[in-house]
Amino acid sequence: MDKIVSLCRRRGFVFPSSEIYGGLGSAYDYGHYGVLMKNNVKARWWEAMVQEREDIVALDSAIILNPRVWEASGHVSGFTDPLVDCRTCKLRFRADQLEQASCGRKPSKRPGETPDCDLTEARHFNLMFKTQVGALEDEGSIAYLRPETAQGIFVNFKNVLQLARRKPPFGIAQIGKSFRNEITPGNFLFRTREFEQMEMEFFVPPAEADEWFRYWIDQRFQWYVRYGLRESMLRIRPHEEDELAHYAKAASDVEYLFPIGWSELEGIANRGDFDLTQHTESSGTKLEFVGEGGERYVPYVIEPAGGPDRTFLALIVDAYDEEVVAERDRTVLRLHPAIAPVKAAILPLIPRNGDMVEKARGLFEELRRKHVVEYDDGGQIGRRYRRQDEIGTPYAFTIDDQTLEDDTVTVRDRDSLAQERLPIGGVAAWLGEALERPWRTPKA
Ligand code: GAP
Repeated sequence: MDKIVSLCRRRGFVFPSSEIYGGLGSAYDYGHYGVLMKNNVKARWWEAMVQEREDIVALDSAIILNPRVWEASGHVSGFTDPLVDCRTCKLRFRADQLEQASCGRKPSKRPGETPDCDLTEARHFNLMFKTQVGALEDEGSIAYLRPETAQGIFVNFKNVLQLARRKPPFGIAQIGKSFRNEITPGNFLFRTREFEQMEMEFFVPPAEADEWFRYWIDQRFQWYVRYGLRESMLRIRPHEEDELAHYAKAASDVEYLFPIGWSELEGIANRGDFDLTQHTESSGTKLEFVGEGGERYVPYVIEPAGGPDRTFLALIVDAYDEEVVAERDRTVLRLHPAIAPVKAAILPLIPRNGDMVEKARGLFEELRRKHVVEYDDGGQIGRRYRRQDEIGTPYAFTIDDQTLEDDTVTVRDRDSLAQERLPIGGVAAWLGEALERPWRTPKA
């Protein structure tokens, strides 16, 4: 993981947040390439969820909702982790994860391992961040930053049913920030207190719930494969009865083999009619489907819930590669072209040569109309290639002496390092096609 963190920082993908003040534990800011890449992850999700289907619509609900939403959903009473404090080392641990924790003393021990560890009884700690709405600081002004985007979807069920004229099976998809006051955040972007979620609630007739549950597990697994994660690094893990969330009838995780071991990338849950029933009871508004023939039922919900940050991390981990080429070390991000932040680099071989620069700038101006491309004339060509390799740019077009003679350019493939010559006038069409081609990682 250290190499990934270092590359992300060195190349401007992700930095520790508010670093000049010493940072804030497990909070990160995305830099230029990080933003471009995370936007690509989200765009691919919107494509798969909305653009390529007719049965899912989009939503962007508020982050701060009426606090009664969180009472009805069970989050006020039940969205807790058990924690213990150690009076000796003054650290706080999740009571259910003591085996994996290390205490604050040197040499570090497992909390409770020695008689010196003075642990408190486990207490339940609510993970929701509290805030206050309006100027008065009283009980009535308490509100919460949402801990999941899902509830914003459930409370809009009736709007979408009526206004988007949908009937089950249909889904509502949303991407947005969520907040959890995690007791043990960490492992870079894997667990932070502020993060994004990509959630889709799929409303189905109850009798079809099992079938749709299996369908969405498969769809979501395939989505990760489609964007380059190696199948050997992915698995589906069904939840045991005793680890199911309070709302879930069944759940399975798509797990990725992160450097910290197999861990959840996305959860797919059958939430039954829990949420719509709770909100009906609490709000007095009936959240149900009434068919043309008068039949009525509360749909069941199948929920694939993933996160752009965790997906971003898995994609970078999977893409990271080191090799020796011509006796020199090369670090390369073998990202799927649809995920790579920059699609092509345009490089004049000799930056002082005005004719080369002019040709290169002309090509850059043409390509940038359709794609995120980068013009770079800073430093030796080898260093410029290495910079592009480290940010995962799949193609580099080099303008050289021959370009000035016959208007051809060299294209260099990031993965194979193969080079070929193309007429400069055909580069835009060539790149458009190359980015559409099926891609598989050359990593074993
Ligand atoms: N609505 C269901 C739900 O929120 P979850 O498994 O708690 O389920 C879904 O969260 C996804 O959100 C996770 O699979 C993960 O990708 C992302 N996620 C959850 N907590 C996170 C955290 N603290 N930091 C980064 N991503 C997180």
